[in-house]
Amino acid sequence: MYILAIETSCDETSISVLNETNVLSNTVSSSSNLFEETGGVVPEVASRKQLEYIIPVLQKSLDTAGVSMEQIDLIGVTVGPGLMGSLLVGVSFAKCLSAIYNKPVVPVNHLIGHIYSGFVTNYLGEKINNDIQFPIVGLLVSGGHTDLVLIKNHKEIVYLGGKRDDAGGEAFDKVARILGLSNYLGGPLISKQAEGFNKNLAKGLHLPRPLINSDDFEFSFSGLKTAVLKVSKDYDVSEISYEFEQSVVDVLLQKTQKACDVYKPKTVIVCGGVSANTRLRDTFKSHFEKKVVFPLLALCTDNAAMIGCATYYYKDNATKDLDKFNADPSLSLQNL
Ligand code: KG4
Ligand code: ZN
Repeated sequence: MYILAIETSCDETSISVLNETNVLSNTVSSSSNLFEETGGVVPEVASRKQLEYIIPVLQKSLDTAGVSMEQIDLIGVTVGPGLMGSLLVGVSFAKCLSAIYNKPVVPVNHLIGHIYSGFVTNYLGEKINNDIQFPIVGLLVSGGHTDLVLIKNHKEIVYLGGKRDDAGGEAFDKVARILGLSNYLGGPLISKQAEGFNKNLAKGLHLPRPLINSDDFEFSFSGLKTAVLKVSKDYDVSEISYEFEQSVVDVLLQKTQKACDVYKPKTVIVCGGVSANTRLRDTFKSHFEKKVVFPLLALCTDNAAMIGCATYYYKDNATKDLDKFNADPSLSLQNL
């Protein structure tokens, strides 16, 4: 079964071809470099770029996979959440391909796509042997979301809790801006600074771990960002980066462990852009050992391969009725 998946929820234009859950191509074209100057995505600019990129990205993905549009069995597309203009580019393109080639479409929630990044079984020829068993506790930490879910099976996802204010990735980005590291996407730069921190030169900075002991599955990172702002002149950038990163990791780990205490999952999946963070990966792996599954690094940040993998598991939702689905920027993991 060949799947063509389309992801355009933010500033990436990505198209992937899969054979079931085996990824044959995953082309990602990003306009994020344009937003360093503006300090954030300008939605109209992002969607105009997506209009420009989408046909070459499709061509490249089909060519790399060696698959033609006629051979595709199913089209999967991100319908939300995300930026309206960006989602519209992908959804309209999927509808257009469906009408021209007479193919059914599976509408996919971007956040569910992130969860399914852990279910990919082969990536461009590299075999992935993730041992995933239900029930699963899923932690999704991205630029827009921080959510804990219980995945009982492929059809039942229960929302446990999420962010009250800034998402985990958003906190990384805002702290990077405070520290003068980056104006837009700062996660990897904070991580690099933290890696370079020399503990022998530590001045002993301690940042708060917001809501770490609260009796729920909620997260709040905006106070942590303010705490960084207050000390930003008094400590070295590498010490602040190290302590900030540790604070985020401590909170995410403790809340995930709390979900495990209550729901006793067989597997823990951590996904979304922040799951690319080395300290987060190392800390979770040493704590949960074989129980924790991380997506490949290439599948942590936004990409169409994860949407294709979700398309495979949600193939029962396939439709040729193009009025049945539309771009919906406000989709979430609540009320699925
Ligand atoms: O999942 P994603 O690509 O987009 C959304 O759906 O939001 O996540 C992007 C977020 C950004 O906030 C970025 O700074 C963060 O993921 N990120 C990281 C790392 N790589 C990306 N945060 C911490 N450490 C990283 N290595
Ligand atoms: Zn995402």
